[in-house]
Amino acid sequence: MHIVFAASECTPWAKTGGLADVVGALPAELKKLGHRVTTLVPYYRQVAQQMPNLPVKLASVTIPFRDYNRFVRILDAGEQHGAQMYFVDCPELFDRESFYATPSGDYPDNAERFGLFSRAVIEASKVLGVPDVFHVHDWQAAMVSVYMRSTYYFDPVLRKVPSVLTIHNAGYQGWFPPKTTEELLLPWDMFRFDKLEQNDTFNFLKGGCVYADALTTVSPTYAEEIKTPEFGSGLENVFAQRADDLLGILNGVDYTEWNPETDANIAAHYTPKDLKGKKECRRDVLHAFGFDHVSDETPVIGMVTRLATQKGLDLLAQIIDELVKQDMVLMVLGSGEEYYERLFTELSEKYPDKVRVQIGYDNVMAHKIEAGADMFLMPSRYEPCGLNQIYSLKYGTVPIVRATGGLEDTVDEQAGGKGTGFKFSGYSPWAFYDAILRALRVFQNKEEWTEIMQRGMMQDYGWHTSAKQYVQLYERVITQRAWS
Ligand code: ADP
Ligand code: GLC
Repeated sequence: MHIVFAASECTPWAKTGGLADVVGALPAELKKLGHRVTTLVPYYRQVAQQMPNLPVKLASVTIPFRDYNRFVRILDAGEQHGAQMYFVDCPELFDRESFYATPSGDYPDNAERFGLFSRAVIEASKVLGVPDVFHVHDWQAAMVSVYMRSTYYFDPVLRKVPSVLTIHNAGYQGWFPPKTTEELLLPWDMFRFDKLEQNDTFNFLKGGCVYADALTTVSPTYAEEIKTPEFGSGLENVFAQRADDLLGILNGVDYTEWNPETDANIAAHYTPKDLKGKKECRRDVLHAFGFDHVSDETPVIGMVTRLATQKGLDLLAQIIDELVKQDMVLMVLGSGEEYYERLFTELSEKYPDKVRVQIGYDNVMAHKIEAGADMFLMPSRYEPCGLNQIYSLKYGTVPIVRATGGLEDTVDEQAGGKGTGFKFSGYSPWAFYDAILRALRVFQNKEEWTEIMQRGMMQDYGWHTSAKQYVQLYERVITQRAWS
């Protein structure tokens, strides 16, 4: 089977979060199962810096808009992580400081940028190899599913090709003004509540959810949650209507990148049976954060996160004055919204002996924290899957999480010689604080703590099971489409 992946991120060249990790890792597993994957991603400035002068595969692909045409190139990056990798080059739209936004807000032409990207994926596939199925990710690629059932509906080579849309985060939908309809050359009768319209905006994700042959989310619990108003971000009815075509497939993780036995970014290697190296990693990361004075008995709490409302950072802000009274230190690596960057910087200035913060994106430091911390915080308001808690399990860094989405599905509350972490349910600062206090208490019992760490390290969240579920789904939609 030939699968075309379309996504706005792919590790290591273009990454803001877990979407990049998934797009970078799933193709390798599909390849092991005997399938062929072609992945297309925008050629952002950051990608061009890492991979300049790529060979040109297609010199000019025309992408029409209402008032003009744009012309993109398809660049060939060869085989990467098991997929044939192409980049969509359109410097006017992608040679920018960031992928999606500046600190002052989203790029105003994002509809054009990702509309163009989606259409380029389809056009390029017609020339480079029509797939058996398109697998598109998040709102930035969702228009592939829309175009396939509208603009390209009568295309003889494409009309039997289904699309699967994976929703990595229903909170980001791609909302644009109504005039986007005609700018993207779509008929006005698609700007309706049962199609692309939502609260008088043109909604990319909604369009994808209406037109894709099947929908997936990245954990079973999140697939249920998004059918409710609390988690559906306004699209709960669309998700509920498509419940029969909506499947929660838990993300895997790439243990070639995230494994304390082999990780090249950390100070020492270790295994569940021999944890000595973790002590060295702990010293290393404490030193990196300027915490050299911290004793072996003091628990080290880590956090690596996009600084966004989704991540439950307000809960942490509400308990921090109490938390710092405990024997512990907290290190945070994060980048994102200015408000949270300022908040965390202020907290580290207020409690320099207890709280240290590194603002920015730093992959090596992310690995060092995973390896060197004793505990890892994820108090997310919602979490479609979450990869950091799964990395934490592997690194023996006990996760403290809110029981939502993929956090609920991957962390088991420890008790009676079972379980891998600490969980709390309600979105309440004190429930969160209580979970941390429980962890700090158990940490005092070295034997019990080590057993929790070891149970986490033995968990296997590799891609094998999930990749098979995707293959079954691809087969289902291909058959359905063949008969339609
Ligand atoms: P999300 O995709 O919602 O951000 P995930 O837990 O699925 O959450 O994935 C986050 C990924 O991004 C992980 O690989 C994590 O290490 C990485 N990450 C997040 N913030 C940073 C940062 N500031 N620096 C380096 N890596 C980061
Ligand atoms: C999103 C979600 C995160 C998930 C990731 C990869 O960014 O916020 O929970 O793990 O996508 O699917």
